Amino acid sequence: MIEILKKIPFFSELSDEDVQKIADNIRLEYFPASHVIFEQNDTGDIMYIIKRGKVQVIRDDTVLAVLEDNAFFGEMALVSDEPRNARIVTVTDVEALTLNKDDFKRLLETNSSIASIVSYEVVKRANAIF
Ligand code: CMP
Repeated sequence: MIEILKKIPFFSELSDEDVQKIADNIRLEYFPASHVIFEQNDTGDIMYIIKRGKVQVIRDDTVLAVLEDNAFFGEMALVSDEPRNARIVTVTDVEALTLNKDDFKRLLETNSSIASIVSYEVVKRANAIF
């Protein structure tokens, strides 16, 4: 897992020690093509980083974005405590790293480079939606 994490740009600024800590809490999950990872308005407690593959971000039947390798999703419900603001459907087979809410929040609190990557995207995505 440590070797996998080191190749993901999202984690590239982490020290070896931090990568090791996070590796204990991260899972690698596989989803087939055309699979709904979660629905809009679901309660969310996991965020996802795409290791390989492509997903569509769909809100009210409109495709807002297509995300692929190294992009992340599912962070907004975790930082805002609001329901999922879009449905996520796989376009291809997807391998994703998943992190639960507590571990994700700890990562944001302890790592400023990850906090700035995430807050940049949250602001951009929120502006695109609302
Ligand atoms: P969340 O609200 O937890 O669940 C739906 C996810 O879709 C959201 O987090 C973001 O990760 C993602 N998302 C929402 N809007 C956009 C957008 N405009 N572009 C890319 N991703 C988005």
